[in-house]
Amino acid sequence: MLLHLRVHLCALFLALSPLASLAAPPSYDHPSQTVLSQAALSDILFRGLPILGPDNGCSKTLKTCDWMAKIPDNTPLVRMNLPGTHDTSTWNYSATTQASLTGYTGPLPPAYLFRCQERSLLQSLNDGIRVFDLRFAYNPGNDTIGFYHSLLAPTTTMTDIFFGLYQWLNKHPTEAVLVSINHESGTGTPYDAKIQEMVYDVINSDIGNTYWGQTSGSLGTLGQARGKLTLLQRFTFDLLPAYKTKRIGIQLDPGHWTDNGKAIELVYNADKGLTAFIEDYYDSSLPLTSTPSQFIEEKFGATTAHLGNATLFNPDQLYISFVSAAAIVTGVVKVDMTPRVGCGFSLLALVFFCFCLGFVVLLPARCFSLSWFFFPPSFLSPSFP
Ligand SMILES: *[C@@H]1O[C@H](CO)[C@@H](O)[C@H](O)[C@H]1NC(C)=O
Ligand SMILES: *[C@@H]1O[C@H](CO)[C@@H](O)[C@H](O)[C@H]1NC(C)=O
Ligand SMILES: *[C@@H]1O[C@H](CO)[C@@H](O)[C@H](O)[C@H]1NC(C)=O
Repeated sequence: MLLHLRVHLCALFLALSPLASLAAPPSYDHPSQTVLSQAALSDILFRGLPILGPDNGCSKTLKTCDWMAKIPDNTPLVRMNLPGTHDTSTWNYSATTQASLTGYTGPLPPAYLFRCQERSLLQSLNDGIRVFDLRFAYNPGNDTIGFYHSLLAPTTTMTDIFFGLYQWLNKHPTEAVLVSINHESGTGTPYDAKIQEMVYDVINSDIGNTYWGQTSGSLGTLGQARGKLTLLQRFTFDLLPAYKTKRIGIQLDPGHWTDNGKAIELVYNADKGLTAFIEDYYDSSLPLTSTPSQFIEEKFGATTAHLGNATLFNPDQLYISFVSAAAIVTGVVKVDMTPRVGCGFSLLALVFFCFCLGFVVLLPARCFSLSWFFFPPSFLSPSFP
């Protein structure tokens, strides 16, 4: 009986449809394509929430909100001072989050050792941060790409995060966001041709072509980078099929990125003579008997020496300085070091810093108020309008 009814209705529909196509469009309300797109985007952003975090917006009257708007289009990115976060995406890695992931990771050192920010990705963009340091590897299951400083969010994918950034750029079209992407080793997941091809395809999809800057081999100007993501590629596409030849952004070859270097010189475009000067001294070499303040002084010295160089030499070259470090003793972090950076530098550099409220203790009071943690306006001088 049921079967019969279905056949009957179907026949009726078929019989009516030629007539319907001649008649006026149906007058009943139906959801538009926009509603459907928005629902799909919400779904993606919901999956991205553990890494992207909430976007509470920023007041246009704040200096940190859309701060690039006042800088001329023809400014080379390497001449700007762009603040970033190191091991971006750890903002919500609390003991509770870690406990919820123990089924995947097994027991680990305390969560605070993995956590480098307290502000979400989207909120730190609103705070003025413009460079991210993302570490990818397969999520559990080896099928989607996730982000790590230890496993952070097993069901959030690289695509979800990029959509979140695309949407933020739609709301802030004057801003340029640089995304350093690095493969995280030691996660126990494979690093194979499939994952490289997945990353390639995400970046070079139609939507990727729209939102990723297409300049290759150099960083170009702010004008070219506005409303876009600019790739700092810290891994090599060495397993791709030969026909996938497109490259965007700049490639910072991991083979030439000396581990724990205080003054790395990494040529990223030999034809144009482009070098990145990098300070990535994260693991102190002082004797283990040193005091916390000795460790901190030493890191402070390495960072300020590098930033000092950035103000003195090579105005058209890229400087990247990591302000965070630790004293690591046989795999255990003994002393966390987070930024204590003096004011008044006129930096020409990318500066990555750990964005942790709790850890920063040795700020010279004459330089900063607490608001520094959410972003140091003086830190951006001179490009900060
Ligand atoms: C942040 O972590 C807590 C604890 O693990 C979790 O309940 C919450 O959903 C997380 N927030 C987001 C936005 O994922
Ligand atoms: C993922 O890869 C790891 C390392 O090769 C392997 O041990 C694990 O079984 C894989 N998981 C799945 C679901 O294939
Ligand atoms: C600073 O520049 C000098 C001169 O080029 C160089 O010898 C030194 O290694 C640099 N130091 C740092 C920390 O970049």
